[in-house]
Parts: sequence; C-alpha cells; structure tokens
Amino acid sequence: MNQEARKPMTRAIVIGANSSIAQSIIEQLLADSTVEQLIAISRKKTPDLLSKFGSKLRWICCDYSEEAIKEVCGNLNASEKDFSHVFICNGLLHTEQITPEKRLEDIGAEKLQAILHTNTIVPMLWLANLAPLLKSKVDCSVAVFSARVGSIEDNRSGGWYAYRASKSALNMLIKTTSIEFSRRAPNVKLIAFHPGTTDTQLSKPFQRNVPEDKLFTPKFVARSLLEIMENLDRESGAEFLDWAGKPISW
Ligand SMILES: NC(=O)c1ccc[n+]([C@@H]2O[C@H](COP(=O)([O-])OP(=O)(O)OC[C@H]3O[C@@H](n4cnc5c(N)ncnc54)[C@H](OP(=O)(O)O)[C@@H]3O)[C@@H](O)[C@H]2O)c1
Repeated sequence: MNQEARKPMTRAIVIGANSSIAQSIIEQLLADSTVEQLIAISRKKTPDLLSKFGSKLRWICCDYSEEAIKEVCGNLNASEKDFSHVFICNGLLHTEQITPEKRLEDIGAEKLQAILHTNTIVPMLWLANLAPLLKSKVDCSVAVFSARVGSIEDNRSGGWYAYRASKSALNMLIKTTSIEFSRRAPNVKLIAFHPGTTDTQLSKPFQRNVPEDKLFTPKFVARSLLEIMENLDRESGAEFLDWAGKPISW
C-alpha cells in the first residue's frame, strides 16, 4: 500500500484564501489525491485556481462582516461535515494609510482598530462560528496564522504596537478556545502558526534587512505547515508553532 492510500481523506476550509501563503496551501492540497473537498473563502475569487482545480474546489465570497460569517457557517453547517483541516490566514500589517508604529506618537485609534479587527476579531469570529461544524468523529486541525512578534515573552525590539498586540490577543483567544474545545469538540486541535518572514505583499516593505535564506517562499511555508499538521500532538492543548514546527513561547 502506498503512503497516500493510508492517509485519511482530507476535507479542508481555507479562509483568507487570497493570501499568497493560502494560495500555495490550496495548490498543494488540490494536487494531493487524498483531498476530497476544499472550500476557499475570501473577499474575491481567484479565477486562475478555479479554472485549474474547479471540481474539488468551492469558492465562497465573504466580506467578513459578522452577519456574513454567520451566514457562510450556517450554510456550511447544513450541508457539510467532517472537516480535517482549517486554515485561517487573514492578517494585515500595513495599508496605504497605515504603517507599523515605530514610537508612541504613531499610535492612533483608527489604525489600532483596523489592525485589531482584521488580525484578531475576524479570525475569532470564524473560530466561534465554525465550532458546530468542526465537532465530529474526525480529527480536525485548525491553523490560525499568528506571528512571532505576538509573543509577549519574545518582544525584545518593541515597535509595531498594533500588529504585535493584535497577534498576542489572537493567541489568547486561540488558547482560550482550545480549553473550551477540549470539552465541546475534543477532536479539534488548534495551532497559532508563525510562517516566518515570507515573500508576500504583507512583508514586502520590510524585507530589506532579511537575509536571503530567511525570506521564505509561500510554497515552502505551505509545505512546512502541511507537514506540521500531519504530525501534531493531539493530546496537548493549543500550541504556538513556527514554520519548522518549533514551539514559540506565548
Ligand atoms: N508574510 C510574512 O512574512 C508573515 C509573517 C508572520 C505572519 N504572517 C501572517 O500570515 C498570514 C498570511 O499573510 P500573507 O503573508 O500571506 O499576506 P497576504 O498575501 O498579504 O494576505 C493577506 C490576508 O489577509 C486578509 N486581509 C487583508 N485585508 C483584510 C481586511 N481588511 N479584512 C479581512 N481580511 C483581510 C486577506 O484576505 P482575502 O483572502 O479575503 O483577500 C488575506 O487572507 C497573516 O495572518 C500574516 O499576519 C505573515
């Protein structure tokens, strides 16, 4: 029997599916014959992926408002079950109006709110609304994209107030959810995942001082994450893991 024949079937949901890392996850999952179904959710569809992998891939557009997230999860709950993998990839570091803060004078309520909304509130709304859908007899691994800079212990260089705080808060929400899931949905394993500095639109303005061998491709990070998810310790609670599968202190 080959290795793929022994692997259980994969049914996956990828949220924030237009992230460069998410796109690589989708491509790699869809190239794997053990993947039965993939639901991609984003603000806009990616026609390229749809034309290449149409039959296994279902794309749902969502504006990430609370009502829209509830509606998407309610509809999925009525028709789908036994998901084995969930990826929540949303994250925002900068926009035309927002640059990560270097000093206290850069703090602004609107900027803080925008970053906290995308990085903390949106992923948590997905986790909360997906809960009834994820509880099943099938092991389910949920990777929520965090960042090492969200580690309170590891904060040595300061700055990036909003982004750091949004990922620290996200980590707390993930850990708290995992405690509730241990009673309500013990088949679900949660990880807060740090992809490492990856060559995407999010990191573009901050790549100058990153050594070449520390700037990862989305393809590499996607492959690493999929491997990590194959080998998780399902008995421990939520974990904060980097791209190499190494724990990061919360
Ligand atoms: N790249 C890095 O070096 C790095 C390092 C550490 C952590 N991360 C984390 O990795 C994750 C993936 O990032 P990436 O590098 O692949 O970035 P990316 O290509 O810029 O993707 C951005 C992601 O954020 C979502 N997003 C952007 N603006 C949003 C908004 N206003 N409301 C809701 N969602 C919004 C997008 O959703 P749509 O699909 O709907 O467009 C997409 O999923 C993020 O959580 C990021 O914080 C990245």
